[in-house]
Amino acid sequence: MKGIVFSEFIEMVEDQFSPEVADEIIMAADLPSGGMYTAVGTYAHTEMLDLVAGLSKKTDIPAGDLVSAFGKYLFGRFSELYPGFFEGVNSSFEFLMQIEDHVHIEVRKLYPEAELPTFKTNLLDANTLEMIYQSRRPFADLAKGLILGCALHYGEEIIIEENDMSQQDRTYVQFTLKLQ
Ligand code: HEM
Repeated sequence: MKGIVFSEFIEMVEDQFSPEVADEIIMAADLPSGGMYTAVGTYAHTEMLDLVAGLSKKTDIPAGDLVSAFGKYLFGRFSELYPGFFEGVNSSFEFLMQIEDHVHIEVRKLYPEAELPTFKTNLLDANTLEMIYQSRRPFADLAKGLILGCALHYGEEIIIEENDMSQQDRTYVQFTLKLQ
């Protein structure tokens, strides 16, 4: 997983909890990287799982809720860092349908070693989009948060139903998005 994702996560923890909490979870996780992330570096995604587990333990908030909240925050940061992806895209469904064939393709050009999931999208009707997330990593909750962050960006409200098609390990999840 790219360092930019870790740096953003640590910044979110510093802002929404405190710099001390961020330091504590980094120390407690005893990470191979030592918690020193650079944007272009690549680190084991298990470090993210360890950091989230530590934050969950410290705050009593379920890990999935923390990852999803992070996804929502991360989308806001992506919109500041990569304004080009938003040009001429006027709704969240339009944006989400471009992740697989455009956004993540460009991401891979910027970061060749990025570990990306795949999404199959299917517009069922004007207000219903199905997105099937599949990855070797268990970040479906990140996807859910990113979807919610995308809706927020466009001033829309989306309700997400989900169906975990993996063995409850969050690697293969069908999302049905209902635009309100
Ligand atoms: C401007 C928009 C976006 C940018 C720039 C972007 C970029 C990235 C980057 C840099 C990574 C990290 C890859 C790595 O660490 O190796 C990533 C991973 C990921 N992205 Fe995106 N992304 C965007 C939008 C989205 C959206 C809207 C979704 C959800 C629908 C999404 C779903 C994911 C997920 C779930 C991962 C984690 C890796 C995995 O699950 O295997 N991304 N993306």
